[in-house]
Amino acid sequence: MDIETLISCATQARENAYAPYSGFAVGAAIIDEQGGLHIGCNVENAAYPQSQCAEATAIGSMIASGGHEISVIIIAGPEGGAPCTPCGGCRQRIREFATPNTPIYICSGNKIVAEYTLADLLPDSFGPENLS
Ligand code: THU
Repeated sequence: MDIETLISCATQARENAYAPYSGFAVGAAIIDEQGGLHIGCNVENAAYPQSQCAEATAIGSMIASGGHEISVIIIAGPEGGAPCTPCGGCRQRIREFATPNTPIYICSGNKIVAEYTLADLLPDSFGPENLS
């Protein structure tokens, strides 16, 4: 799957975001190690702390579908403003299923506006290997 298609998957997922409280819609799209596509959007809650980020939704979908590793993840945020980089909690969520070199793209209005690796966003991270 090419990057343009992945961008449009994340952007489409963003359109389904349930974000009535923040008004800040986010979408995410993951390709797993088998080439499977998994999408997610943020799902807020009237009890604010129960809200879920788009990345968490996409990762949950990947696991439920039998995927194991994130080959690439794209996060789609609002147009304009700062790039919608993943929050601290989502960096750790991504880390569980990624490698230091896993690409993390941020898009806005159908364009890539920032590109990182996991190690850029979460250096010297703690992960499953630390427990063995
Ligand atoms: N949000 C995400 O879905 N992903 C991020 O990485 C950053 C923030 C959501 C959470 C909340 O629903 C809204 O954006 C505003 O913080």
